[in-house]
Amino acid sequence: MQKPIGIFDSGVGGTSIWKEIRRKLPNEDTIYLADSKNAPYGSKSKEEILNLSIKNVELLLKENSKIIVVACNTATTNAIDHLRKTYEVPFIGIEPAIKPAALRTQTKKVGILATKGTLSSSLFHNTSKMYAEGITVLEQEGKGLVELIEQGKQNSEEVKQLLCDYLNPMLAAEIDSLVLGCTHYPYLIPALQEILPEHIHIIDSGEAVARQTKAVLEKQGLLSLSNTKGASKFYTNGSYEVLQQLVGKQTKVSQLDF
Ligand code: DGL
Repeated sequence: MQKPIGIFDSGVGGTSIWKEIRRKLPNEDTIYLADSKNAPYGSKSKEEILNLSIKNVELLLKENSKIIVVACNTATTNAIDHLRKTYEVPFIGIEPAIKPAALRTQTKKVGILATKGTLSSSLFHNTSKMYAEGITVLEQEGKGLVELIEQGKQNSEEVKQLLCDYLNPMLAAEIDSLVLGCTHYPYLIPALQEILPEHIHIIDSGEAVARQTKAVLEKQGLLSLSNTKGASKFYTNGSYEVLQQLVGKQTKVSQLDF
């Protein structure tokens, strides 16, 4: 079906998910909303996150989206139940990858870096309880990181200093796996690789989300029948430079007030 896959995030972070979707479903059209004007979502109340998510979904539906990917852990953990109950279109969400980390850890200690909104959500707590039995999960709010990534400063000294502050206690506690619980954080991987010892496994959910998107489209008969490369549209209500840099010059980015 030649309708786009709609994707939204509080800003540029969800482009890490868009890249995985593009890789797995190259012939699909995509439309991406970067709600950078309202970033970060992570420090907002559940109600505010829900209202922002509804606003984004309404716009994606106006643009004819056949499925919506909530490319934001904070919006998924706080709003996806409501969205699924309210709209007919299928939703794909993203949650911190606690399960794969719990299955893989040898030290039985796993670190998770996420926003306050995700860490305080009941969905995250339930997932953690379900999959991390017998495992110590060290939770850390990545305060300030989303704002710096929104400014294109993912490789700055400021980011590296924050990461050291946040990760040193986890390293002292002997974690062997670090879950990236925010879609902005895959852009920190080069900085993380400088800071973390080699044996620490970094886990994010991007590829799993793309796999799940493909499976749901297949199951519901919604896959594109086109055999040419799909088109990608990007809208931001913030500054477009950082978004443009992350998605590449050849991709069209437009500014829109939403
Ligand atoms: N990318 C969002 C997430 O995955 C960032 C949240 C924020 O805006 O604070 O949680």
